[in-house]
Amino acid sequence: PNLTDCTVSYITGDPNTPNSVQVPYTCCPPTPADSPQPFKIPHTDQKRIRPAAHLVDDKYIEKYMRAIQAMKDLPQDDPRNFYQQANIHCAYCNYGHRVSDPEKGTDYLLQVHSNWFFLPFHRWYLYFFEKIAGELIDDPTFALPYWNWDTPCGMTMPFMFSTEKSPLDPSKSNPLYNPKRHPDHFPPAVFDLNYRGAASGLPDLTTVCNNLSFVYREMVTNAYDTQSFLGTPYYFGDAAPRGTGASELLHNPAHIWMGKPRTTDPPTYGEDMGNFYSAGKDCLFYVHHANVDRLWRVWLEQGGQNFQNQAWLDSQLFFWDEKKNPVYVTVKDCLDEEKLGYTYQPTELPWLKAKP
Ligand code: C2O
Repeated sequence: PNLTDCTVSYITGDPNTPNSVQVPYTCCPPTPADSPQPFKIPHTDQKRIRPAAHLVDDKYIEKYMRAIQAMKDLPQDDPRNFYQQANIHCAYCNYGHRVSDPEKGTDYLLQVHSNWFFLPFHRWYLYFFEKIAGELIDDPTFALPYWNWDTPCGMTMPFMFSTEKSPLDPSKSNPLYNPKRHPDHFPPAVFDLNYRGAASGLPDLTTVCNNLSFVYREMVTNAYDTQSFLGTPYYFGDAAPRGTGASELLHNPAHIWMGKPRTTDPPTYGEDMGNFYSAGKDCLFYVHHANVDRLWRVWLEQGGQNFQNQAWLDSQLFFWDEKKNPVYVTVKDCLDEEKLGYTYQPTELPWLKAKP
């Protein structure tokens, strides 16, 4: 597929549903002058170790805020600009990319959710986001934090995202802050993984225990084979399937919980985290997805297996790298995150003992 072929994106998801609403701006990446080249993973001796967001120190927070600020300060048309990065998610996930199959004479819209591209797409997406952040602060060891919501101490919005002013210097603003979040879900509110739009009214300790059982269910009970965890196959020429894997079901609650409640008058759509088109505008997105990415690794360590399917392995995605080169990457190149140069700070897995 020609992944640089991008048009309108849709706030309401599938454009073929009645009353679909378009994103009022373009989510398409800047068009490259030269055709994208296959991406070669740079060799690195320095590992990037992604820390748990609730455990980082001030030195890390300072660096992280500086990196995000630098991304926000880039010219708007720089593909590495923070909002350009957010639009990548919009284009891939709100049907911006059109794919033509000349043989069949069909034209269809690409979607990376609810199918086997969910995990690899987001892994590559975070990879480039992290490399861009590191490039801008000139620190090749910079690694994104992960929102460790599968452990009790990680079950609130990580504090550094929650204050309007910098957590290190109240005379400055905080680039990690975003006002477009559910007003009731700032700390000390406990993240409710069973949240469906209304407060449960349960005591916090009950919510924590329910969360652990929820994680167990999606990581173990409902993740009994490759497809059940990664999502259903999706081949060239198919309409986007709806076969959401347990890894994605496990990840949905954070979006719903963090986004603002939807309203009809004026119409709002769960911005920012509660809608694919806007989710990437909240720094929490990348921290949340780092945890999802980490849980993919954990699942493999617990005996899970990736697809061996050639079509999946050879599938390509298009990105701009940290040096502003347009590149395409393949699914098979992201399956070993050690090769991509990063790993996760280990933590306990308390949910393993929380079988519902
Ligand atoms: Cu592409 Cu958390 O969604």
